[in-house]
Amino acid sequence: MNEFIIAPSVLTADFCRMGEEVARMERAGADMLHLDVMDGMFVPNISFGPKMVADIRKVTALPLDVHLMIERPERYIETFASSGADYITFHYEATEKRGECLAAIRALGKKCGIVISPDTPAEVTDDLVPLCDMVLVMSVYPGFGGQKFIPAAMGKVEHIAGTIARLGAKTRLEIDGGVGMSNVRDLRRAGADTIVAGSALFNADDPAALIRAMRESN
Ligand code: DX5
Ligand code: ZN
Repeated sequence: MNEFIIAPSVLTADFCRMGEEVARMERAGADMLHLDVMDGMFVPNISFGPKMVADIRKVTALPLDVHLMIERPERYIETFASSGADYITFHYEATEKRGECLAAIRALGKKCGIVISPDTPAEVTDDLVPLCDMVLVMSVYPGFGGQKFIPAAMGKVEHIAGTIARLGAKTRLEIDGGVGMSNVRDLRRAGADTIVAGSALFNADDPAALIRAMRESN
């Protein structure tokens, strides 16, 4: 069983004060930072690119979990690896070259992962789990923070957790979108060990208390 970790998504942060926002989450007890890269093609929004990742890398020692919501991620793997990502995940739906991308990320010394959007069945990951350091289940349509959790994600987490357990793999199972105090316990029970939370943490009056409560909810 992997250690339970919490990764605030900086998408909800104030981008003009990114350094302070990162420090705020670090002080609150975050284990990792989740960085959402959007290209305006794969998703109907544009967030930030490799420069932001590199600048965040300079101000924190936390691991950086780069979630690529971009078409044909194979074009940018090296760029994000050299920007200081620790994990690089990309969407199942964004490329046919999944095995190649996973191998390329690992060859650059980074942890690799595949992400499935809400309309993609969990079963597509069955054969990919052994090639992944992490599998990410999206519980909202990718593109924006602050959306409502889609309950069907729970069953996908269970399915993938089953595959990981059957293989005796160390693959992390991450959940992203609409996660907060109301569903974290069920998600952990279903097998998620890596929790992304954007609006819940950045809009919390006391993010440290929320992170503590999330950790204790099992
Ligand atoms: C959505 C992003 C998420 C987003 C989560 O496309 O992948 O990481 O920031 O935000 P919340 O936690 O507010 O749903
Ligand atoms: Zn994300």
